[in-house]
Amino acid sequence: MAEPIPSSSGFFLPVTILVFSFFILQLFRSLCQRYFWCNCEICRAYLSSSWTKQFGNLCDWYSHLLKNSPTNTIHIHVLGNTITANPKNVEYMLKTRFDNFPKGKPFSAILGDFLGCGIFNVDGDMWRFQRKMASLELDRYSIRSFAFEIVNNEIERRLIPLLSTFSASNRGPNGSVLDLQDVFRRFSFDSICRFSFGLDPMCLEMSVPMSEFAVSFDLASRLSAERAMKASPLVWKAKRVLNLGSERELREAINVINVLAKEVIRQKRKRGFSNHKDLLSRFMRTVNDESFLRDIVVSFLLAGRDTVASALTSFFWLMANHRDVVVAIRAEADQVIGIGPNQSLKSFKQMQELNYLKAAIYESMRLYPPIQFDSKFCLNDDVLPDGTAVKRGTRVTYHPYAMGRLEEIWGSDCAEFKPERWLKNDGVSGSSVLPENPFQYPVFQAGLRVCLGKEMAIVELMSVALSLLRRFHIKLASPPPCDTHPRFSPGLTATFSGGLPVFVEEREKI
Ligand code: HEM
Repeated sequence: MAEPIPSSSGFFLPVTILVFSFFILQLFRSLCQRYFWCNCEICRAYLSSSWTKQFGNLCDWYSHLLKNSPTNTIHIHVLGNTITANPKNVEYMLKTRFDNFPKGKPFSAILGDFLGCGIFNVDGDMWRFQRKMASLELDRYSIRSFAFEIVNNEIERRLIPLLSTFSASNRGPNGSVLDLQDVFRRFSFDSICRFSFGLDPMCLEMSVPMSEFAVSFDLASRLSAERAMKASPLVWKAKRVLNLGSERELREAINVINVLAKEVIRQKRKRGFSNHKDLLSRFMRTVNDESFLRDIVVSFLLAGRDTVASALTSFFWLMANHRDVVVAIRAEADQVIGIGPNQSLKSFKQMQELNYLKAAIYESMRLYPPIQFDSKFCLNDDVLPDGTAVKRGTRVTYHPYAMGRLEEIWGSDCAEFKPERWLKNDGVSGSSVLPENPFQYPVFQAGLRVCLGKEMAIVELMSVALSLLRRFHIKLASPPPCDTHPRFSPGLTATFSGGLPVFVEEREKI
C-alpha cells in the first residue's frame, strides 16, 4: 500500500522546529565564541568595559595595548579579531598578500543593502573593474582643478558668508556658539554632491531644511554601522526578515536614497552628460546599468563626505589648541598669496606652494585619522611578518590611530603636534613636504586599495583651512583641560561626540 502523503501541517511543523533549532544553535555558538570562551585579561577588560576607567575612547585603549605589545599586535579573542599597528604587517596584508586579505563576506553583508555593489563593498573582478574606471577619472589633473573650483566656490559663496553672519550677530563674550563639526558635515555633503554628480543639495544654506537625501544618508550609514556592533549577525538578519525596529528604519532610509539617486541619474540622462565634468557624467559615458550607477553615487558620497568633515573637525580642534601653528600658517599664506585675510588663492598651482599648511594637515591626520581602523578577513591560514599566526576567517584590523602614536615610527615626540616633522630642513624656506610611507601612515589606506580621492581631499582640506584661518579667529567654546583628547562617538568615521562648539570672530574686528 502506498504511504499516505503527510498533511501540510504534519510536514511543515517538524521542518519549522528544525530550522528554528538550527538558528538557536547558531546564535548560541556565536554568543559562546564571543562571550564565554576567553578569560584572558584583555577579553575580560573588553567584556566588562573596565578599560573605560582609564581611557575615554576604545581607540586610546587599543593604542595603549598595541604600544605595549612587543610585536605591536594584539588579539581580542572574544571578537575573533587580530589588531596590528606594525607597518610590516600592514604592508603584508594590503600589498604582499592582498588577495588573502579581502574585505570579506561578513562586511559585504553588513553594508550590502546600503552600498550595493559599490567599490567600497566588493572584492575580486567587480572591485577591479570599478577601481580601473574610477582611477582613470580621479587621477587626471583636470579633475583636481575641477575639485578646486567647486570647493572654492562653496567656500566663497556659502562657508565664509555663514561664519561672517554668525560672528556679526554674536559679538561680545556671551555670543552664542556654532557647532563647527555640523557646519563641516553640511559643507562636505554639498561639495561631494556637486563634484560627484553636479547636484547642489544646499545643506550649507541654513535657511533651507537639511536635504532629505543627506538625512536619509546619515541614517542609513549609522544604522549599517550599528549592524556590525550586534552580538551576532543573526540578530540583525532576523530583524531584517521580520522588518522590525532599526531594520525597518534602515529599509525606509535606503528606499529614499534609491528614489533620489535614480532621480539624479534620470535628470542627468535628460539633460545630457557628454560635456559635463562631474564624476557621474564621466561614468555615464561608459556605464549603462542603472543600479550600478546608483551604487557608484552612494559609494562616492560615503567616501568623500564624512572623512573630509572628520579631518576638518580635528584640524580646527588642534588649531584652537596651537596658536603658534595658526600664526605660521598665516605667515606662509601672506608670503605666497599676498598680505591680508581677503587675498584669496588664485589657482590650484599656487596652493601647492603652501608646504607648511600641507604639513599641518598631514600632522593633524597622523594624530586624528578620519578612519581610525580598517578591517579585512583572512581567506586562508597565514602568518604575518611579526610571526602572528592568523586562522582562516579571522578579522584582521590595522589601526592608523594607534600607529600615529608609536615611538618606533615617529620618535620620542610622537605625542606632540609638530607640523615641522613633515618638512625637509625643519621648515626653513625652500623646504618641501616629505612623502609619507603609506604603510607607516595608512590614513588613506595603502597598497592596492589606497584611497582614490586623496588628492581631492587634500585640496579640500587645504582650501577650507586656509580660508577660515585667514579670515576668522576661532576659539573653543569650552576649552578642554591640558592634554585631553576629544571623545569620539562609535561609527564608521571618527566623529566628536558633542560636536565642536566654537566662538567665531572676524579677524579685522579682533
Ligand atoms: C580626508 C579624507 C579622506 C580619507 C582620510 C580617506 C580615507 C580612505 C580610506 C582609509 C579608504 C579605504 C577604505 C576601505 O577600504 O575600507 C578609502 C577608500 C576610498 N576613498 Fe577615500 N578618503 C578620503 C576622502 C576621499 C574622497 C574625497 C574621495 C572621493 C572623491 C574618496 C574616494 C575613495 C574611494 C573611491 C575609495 C575606495 C578605493 C578602493 O576600494 O579601491 N576618498 N579612503
